[in-house]
This record gives sequence, C-alpha cells and structure tokens, in this order.
Amino acid sequence: MANRPVAVEVAEDFPARAARRIMDSLRSVLRQRDVAFVALAGGQTPRPVYRELARLFDSDPEVPRRVHFFWSDERLVPTGDARSNVNAATADLLARLEVPPGRLHPPNPANSPVAAAQWYEREIRRVVGGEPPQFDLILLGLGSDGHTASLFPEDADSELSAADKGALVVATTAPGQPRERISFSFELIAAAREVIFLVSGKGKAEVVSRVLEMRDRSLPAARIAARNGIVRWILDSEAAGGLRQETGGA
Ligand code: 6PG
Repeated sequence: MANRPVAVEVAEDFPARAARRIMDSLRSVLRQRDVAFVALAGGQTPRPVYRELARLFDSDPEVPRRVHFFWSDERLVPTGDARSNVNAATADLLARLEVPPGRLHPPNPANSPVAAAQWYEREIRRVVGGEPPQFDLILLGLGSDGHTASLFPEDADSELSAADKGALVVATTAPGQPRERISFSFELIAAAREVIFLVSGKGKAEVVSRVLEMRDRSLPAARIAARNGIVRWILDSEAAGGLRQETGGA
C-alpha cells in the first residue's frame, strides 16, 4: 500500500494552483455523486489556498453547496480561539460561502480529548457512512518534524492502544502548544479517494525530501497512503527545493 503512486506538483503560483486542483477534484466527484465529503487541513499553509478557493467557489456556487465540510484535525481550544483550525477555515473560506445548514461538521472541542475524538468519529460515521467511511478529499499539511494532521512522530511508532486500533479519530498530544488535539487516524486517511498535501516555504524543504525521497517511515507523513485512491503533493518551489528529480505538473 505504501508504494502506491504519488503525484507531485511544484507550483510557482501555489495558492491558485492548489485551489484549482481542489476545485477540479470536487467537480470530478460531483459529476458522479450528489455530494462530496471533504476534510480541511489546519495550520497556516492552507490559508491563502482557502482564500483562492473562496474565489473559485464564488464563480461556481453550486460546488460548495454540495460539499460536507469536516476537519482532518483540530486543536482542543475554546471556541473562537484564534489557534482553532475551524476558526481559520471559517474566516478564509466558509464564512464567504452559502453552505446549507447541516453541511458544516466542526469537531466539538468542549469535551475531553478522548470524548471529543469519539464524538467526531460518531459524526463522521453518521454523515459519511460506509465501513470505513470514505472521504472524497482529505487535505493535509506537513510539520517540519514530519507530522501531519495531528499525528506526531511518536504516534507513528507507538503501539496504538486497543481503543485506538481501528479508530477513525484519535486523541493525540502535540509537542508544542496547543497540546491537546484530535486527528483523523492513519486508517481513516488511508480510506480516502484522494489525499492532497499542501506544503510551502523553504522551512519544509528538508522534511519534504525526507518524506518523498528518503521515505523515512519514522515520519507520520511518510506513512500516509490511500489504499484505493491517490496521494498528491502540491508544493511551492521553496518546499520542493530539496527534491532531486524534476517534478512537473500533474
Ligand atoms: C495543525 C495542522 C498541522 C499543520 C502542520 C503545518 O493543526 O497544526 O493540522 O498538521 O498542517 O503543523 O502547519 P503550517 O502550515 O502552519 O506550517
């Protein structure tokens, strides 16, 4: 499974190119199905992409109207906290759209990490369905330590507790603040039709090379695969700076 093909795109116009790729993926799903299930990534990298995507959605509002929005991870901070991934995506994308009620599925940060993870797993099972639930598109970022979503290096190596084995959403602890997180599990991500990593900046060049070329499986991002789908990486030229071989467009 880990050797399934990976598509790497190096984009000079990273935010616009990434937004177009996301839009194309959604249009492709919606040609075959009534609704699409999407999980948004957190962190700062996707924010300009979301602002570009909001512009594309403005020109074709039928697309976002048929999307269920989830988050691939969240920090367990109070609602309204600027560090929340839900807040960021709402400000950059969702607040600018007419998303029908019942199509936004933020995690519920109010409980304990384990309770929040279990709650979100139930919400995913309720809305997406299937065994395991299959997202059409999961967006992910990449930390300079090789984490993705909120799966940190020690999570990749740790024997998942019995409760977590097969879990779709897990409670994790980040090395830095905010520490308490919930995250899609490797299992849930692997079930997706399409996974897109969005990575930019020269600070990520070394870890991109460790993941994509050295395939360093001590890094959670190197363990991401899509069993029956595709994993894409959209990089700006700085983040791709450590890659040896030329990687053109998709
Ligand atoms: C989070 C994200 C996390 C993020 C990486 C990269 O909640 O922080 O889900 O996985 O994508 O840490 O963050 P930047 O894009 O801010 O570098």
